[in-house]
Amino acid sequence: SARPRIFSGMQPTSDSLHLGNYLGALTQWVALQDDHDALYCVVDLHALTVNPDPAVLRERTRRTAAQYLAGGVDPARSILFVQSHVAEHAELAWVLSCQTGFGEAGRMTQFKDKSAKQGAEGTTVGLFTYPVLMAADILLYDTHVVPVGEDQRQHLELSRNLAQRLNARFGAGTAVVPEPYIVKETAKIYDLQEPTAKMSKSAVSPQGIIELLDAPKVIGKRIRSAVTDAGREIRYEPATKPGVSNLLAIHSALSGRSLTDLEESYEGKGYGDLKVEVAEVVLEALRPFQERFAEYVGDPAELDRVLADGADRARAIAGTVLERVYERVGL
Ligand code: ADP
Ligand code: NA
Repeated sequence: SARPRIFSGMQPTSDSLHLGNYLGALTQWVALQDDHDALYCVVDLHALTVNPDPAVLRERTRRTAAQYLAGGVDPARSILFVQSHVAEHAELAWVLSCQTGFGEAGRMTQFKDKSAKQGAEGTTVGLFTYPVLMAADILLYDTHVVPVGEDQRQHLELSRNLAQRLNARFGAGTAVVPEPYIVKETAKIYDLQEPTAKMSKSAVSPQGIIELLDAPKVIGKRIRSAVTDAGREIRYEPATKPGVSNLLAIHSALSGRSLTDLEESYEGKGYGDLKVEVAEVVLEALRPFQERFAEYVGDPAELDRVLADGADRARAIAGTVLERVYERVGL
């Protein structure tokens, strides 16, 4: 097809996605599936780098897929699948690992951060080669665009370098060089308790996170307890008013109202009013999400069918690309 191909994925490393994943990734994916040839993947091979319990990993893989569906990924238009169901990811990763410099991989800042935390003995080779597997995920589908947050920029750069290297060594057309798709700054969601840090499942305190599958009561409480800023004016000023700006960005993303419109509507009102409305908007968006999630999780046979179909369609593309690469490199 003539539409640009897009690939993205999330790791099944938690029971529930959070609001940052939802606004910064999932809702973007859903919007992009209209005019792109989209592949959305649950990257369970990547999740192995943190050595999860087998039963927990398997369960989270299914829950993550069900959340993609609940958020609006449409398997009739997009290919939704689980990474380990398509063996070609690991096969292309090997070829790419033989094209990646040891020093080049060692310069990845995410590896440096994570390995520093885990220590030399706790750090696996898999964590080291994680960005190579990510490059394989992308190049395996001749991907044109990859939505990336700031923390994945360097990894995408490696994917681009590897694609260019393959083309230089093995001939033009061996790989497609992917471009980043940068999401809007307002799609980045910050921790409710520490609004200068991004909302993340690895946050120090769970109080700052909104999990999509949390009970409405818990979500409402977390929003009402969000840290706000000095002063009383409700304005979108991330540098000086990070807490209030984060709440406004959440409101705007979910209600579709512009930041200026919201600022005007809150003139003369207080932070408490803003929090009440943000909680309403979030709960309204998450109610249907939670209902759809329950439907998919309550029908395991249907989820299996969707994922098997997605894997078949992904494999059809992956097989062709891998065959081309194998042929070029002499396998
Ligand atoms: P986490 O930081 O919780 O580990 P991941 O790194 O697994 O999240 O990110 C999965 C996807 O969600 C990525 O596309 C990432 O850019 C997006 N994402 C994660 N946190 C946020 C956030 N706070 N705001 C916007 N997007 C986010
Ligand atoms: Na992360």
